[in-house]
Amino acid sequence: MVEVNLVGLGAGALLTLTAVALHLSKGTGWTPTTDISQEVLEHRAESVPETEFPEPMNRAIGAGGGGAVPAGGAGEDGAELEGGAESAEEAGPWDLSDDEADTFEIEYAKEGSTVEVKENETVLEAGEDEGWDMPYACRQGQCVSCAGQITSGGNAEDYVVHDDQQMLDDNELGDGYTLTCVAYPKDDFTIETGEAP
Ligand code: FES
Repeated sequence: MVEVNLVGLGAGALLTLTAVALHLSKGTGWTPTTDISQEVLEHRAESVPETEFPEPMNRAIGAGGGGAVPAGGAGEDGAELEGGAESAEEAGPWDLSDDEADTFEIEYAKEGSTVEVKENETVLEAGEDEGWDMPYACRQGQCVSCAGQITSGGNAEDYVVHDDQQMLDDNELGDGYTLTCVAYPKDDFTIETGEAP
């Protein structure tokens, strides 16, 4: 029995030593694989054609080339819109020549005089042409220094065309108030100058 056990122990020890030797030999024999990522990137750079358009990931970022294309289009559209707006702004009696323009009779109540005013001339300019000291400041429809009240009844815009006035609301216009610096006549009327709402 003793002999059998010794043989068994000897065999076990031999196996253990073999396993340890194998383990150590594997650990010391490992070498890293070659890094080919740079090679792959270079190969891809050669094989993928250049494009004018951003790739999907670039688009996802947003502000790059993907934004540039519609931005150009928007610019052109914007230019067109601006042009349209300019055209709309320019369309009005102020564009008419003196020969084309109709003439209307405006009674300046405080000045005690009725004046013939062409439709391409403002109520303010017509008064100044008479030599009157008319109130004004900006001359662009952006204050109320030049305001007056049309007393012929009804809305001021039944009698004048405003060139982009920004100060009077609908109620004030309804009460006959007008900004004389941007008011072009389109009918006969009576006005009290120097009257602000
Ligand atoms: S002067 Fe300013 S609105 Fe006429």
